[in-house]
Amino acid sequence: MGSIATYLVLSLPQSTNAHEWLAQELVGGKSPLYKIKLPDFQSGTLDSLVQESDELVKLDQQLSSSVAKVIDILATVTESDSSSRIVNSKPATDFIQNFTWNTTKYRLDKPINQLVKLISDEALALDNDVRVSYQSYQTAKSNFLAADRKKNGDLSIKSLHEIVRPEQFVLDSEHLTTILIAVPKSLTSDFDNSYETLTQFVIPRSATVIATDSEFSLYTVTLFKKYQSEFIAAAREHKWHPRNDFVYSEETLNNLRKEFDLTKATESKAKNDLIRLAKTAYSDIFASWLHIKAVRVYVESVLRYGLPPQFDYYFIKFEGANAKNLSKAKKELIDKFGFLGGDGFSSTSNLHEYASLVDTEYEPFVLYEIDVV
Ligand SMILES: *[C@@H]1O[C@H](CO)[C@@H](O)[C@H](O)[C@H]1NC(C)=O
Ligand SMILES: *[C@@H]1O[C@H](CO)[C@@H](O)[C@H](O)[C@H]1NC(C)=O
Ligand SMILES: *[C@@H]1O[C@H](CO)[C@@H](O)[C@H](O)[C@H]1NC(C)=O
Repeated sequence: MGSIATYLVLSLPQSTNAHEWLAQELVGGKSPLYKIKLPDFQSGTLDSLVQESDELVKLDQQLSSSVAKVIDILATVTESDSSSRIVNSKPATDFIQNFTWNTTKYRLDKPINQLVKLISDEALALDNDVRVSYQSYQTAKSNFLAADRKKNGDLSIKSLHEIVRPEQFVLDSEHLTTILIAVPKSLTSDFDNSYETLTQFVIPRSATVIATDSEFSLYTVTLFKKYQSEFIAAAREHKWHPRNDFVYSEETLNNLRKEFDLTKATESKAKNDLIRLAKTAYSDIFASWLHIKAVRVYVESVLRYGLPPQFDYYFIKFEGANAKNLSKAKKELIDKFGFLGGDGFSSTSNLHEYASLVDTEYEPFVLYEIDVV
């Protein structure tokens, strides 16, 4: 699945005065830049931030893949397009570009670890609800497909209760029985020429076509009960499809009708429930993800640039033709701000290449990505 837009998520010390350069020079000043305001969190101790940092890496990835999974699910059950990426009643891209911390929901008098737990518990519970709802939908769908095959499949598999009538059968005879055989259209002359002699005691000229569809003709044949299983085995060798699963019953007929209607209604309800839940989940998990990202940027910035927190937080947007400039932009950023990582990060140094081999996520300053899929 291609992405709708990718954002570089960047935090730089205020002392770099980077805003103007980012807006006017980075990849020719062609990538939209959004400056994001972060609230003042309760920082806690450096130790606790180091611990939280690992947790945040994990949660960031988890929520990112949860959002992608919800989109996958929506794509399988709806004609999903970018218009289904709605977060808090606006397009996901607007939500990112205009991100503000939701202080009503996530009160800033709570310490960071409690905020992180609050945000992620909620998102992961919703993720689980979507998983469960998707499973119910899958079950309902396969039940419905089975009922649909019985009702609407070809003559070799469908239920024959709506097709056959009692008078087409020899019923209540001590010695004779009538069996049903679905014969592929290409084999009907083989059938006509050979059924009477397939076993002993087939009633001559008893074969009657009682239904046809595009692939099969459904025949009844009457023969002595004693030869029934032999006849069926021989019919299979001819690649005809004996329907010896069929036993005439009014009750079964009624049950099948009910089963079809019931499984259809159940499937359609499960689908609507799933779509409704998945849309809510997309909105809420996406918003949670952005909040986790914000905390992660804050924690990483404090760990790298120190306290008091004096850094600027930006999103830089890449989409359409400009998407190709993403890696170029990263390189320009590293050339420009690599010094923040110390000597090892000057653009000409081999040490930087070494660091990025050891840890592909590691950059000399706080730099992440958000992919809106
Ligand atoms: C961005 O957020 C502010 C404050 O919440 C709001 O007034 C503004 O209309 C929003 N802009 C967009 C484009 O959503
Ligand atoms: C903050 O969260 C509350 C509760 O979920 C929600 O109703 C409100 O719309 C959110 N506000 C913003 C600005 O996202
Ligand atoms: C890509 O970056 C170059 C400068 O590095 C710029 O001239 C060009 O306009 C950018 N492409 C797009 C589509 O923004």
